[in-house]
Amino acid sequence: MEMNQIRTFVILFFFFFFSVNGFRTLSDDPCDPKAQRDPRTLRSDQITVLINGYSESRIPLLQSLAATYATSPLVSSVLVLWGNPSTPAQTVAQLAQNLSLHHSISLLRQSSNSLNNRFLPRSSIGTHAVLICDDDVEIDHESFEFAVRVWGSNRDRLIGFFVRSHDLDLSRKEWIYTVHPEKYSILLTKFMILRNDYLFKYSCNGGPAMVEMRRTVDRMSNCEDILMNFVVADETNVGPVLVGAKWARDYGDARNDVDVDQRLGLKDEGVKEVGLSSRRGEHRKRRGKCIMEFHRVMGRMPLRYGYGKVVNSVGEQGLCEKGGHLVFCDKS
Ligand SMILES: *[C@@H]1O[C@H](CO)[C@@H](O)[C@H](O)[C@H]1NC(C)=O
Repeated sequence: MEMNQIRTFVILFFFFFFSVNGFRTLSDDPCDPKAQRDPRTLRSDQITVLINGYSESRIPLLQSLAATYATSPLVSSVLVLWGNPSTPAQTVAQLAQNLSLHHSISLLRQSSNSLNNRFLPRSSIGTHAVLICDDDVEIDHESFEFAVRVWGSNRDRLIGFFVRSHDLDLSRKEWIYTVHPEKYSILLTKFMILRNDYLFKYSCNGGPAMVEMRRTVDRMSNCEDILMNFVVADETNVGPVLVGAKWARDYGDARNDVDVDQRLGLKDEGVKEVGLSSRRGEHRKRRGKCIMEFHRVMGRMPLRYGYGKVVNSVGEQGLCEKGGHLVFCDKS
């Protein structure tokens, strides 16, 4: 071998050596099995709250939400995921400083505005239960604690206060995104309690189909919640659980078609209603497209309906205890 060839060989050798070893430890891959926490070390008596922050105008509300969650004895820690890459570094730094007054709150700036980031597995999550929520939804403390308890007896299900439905438009032979008065199949990320390991399933499992569906979420800048409902329903073969809130305030944003929460009996004081109708129609169409796309890629429709609403008052609207679990009375 000539000197040049030897040199090239040595360089190539080091390149491969480091790309296999050195670079991987530097890459910080959230799906790296070695980066996952041992499930036996996760706490069962508390929940981790992940609040998605994006809009600078809502920072004061975000701070008060995060602080309220942080003071609950049920909350282990609050992670604020800042998903807006164009927010000035100074604003983010100030927000981080403001939030750090509470020991259990931390701010994580996301590297991109991908909505899939909401579901990344994170080694800083030290609990089995995780709450994914928006920065524009306030729930009364009692209802929050009740929802956590409901999760405790329905650990495989998605638990929350805001739901929608899928349905089949028979004339067009299309899946649509809609609202049914008496049943639901999609729990929204306005407030979603779920098992920690569903984050890994969503982000790291499922092969090429999941890769393609996560890409759809990025392309649509929407539907991450619908995809999580697909993932969980595919695993469990049951729908989500709707919990009744005593008091819920949805400050509304372009993604939220808030009117339907009123039809489902949730109070929506302080909701902005200005000229949303056409945007809402557009929003529903996009969400319908996502359902069709996920169905096409998966090759099946895993979404399942849930019925009724679990309320914090046994007898009133049919919550019964059976064998240590909360169940709907009509099923007992
Ligand atoms: C941080 O807190 C200060 C003092 O309360 C407030 O004036 C400021 O707007 C806050 N800034 C951010 C970005 O949170």
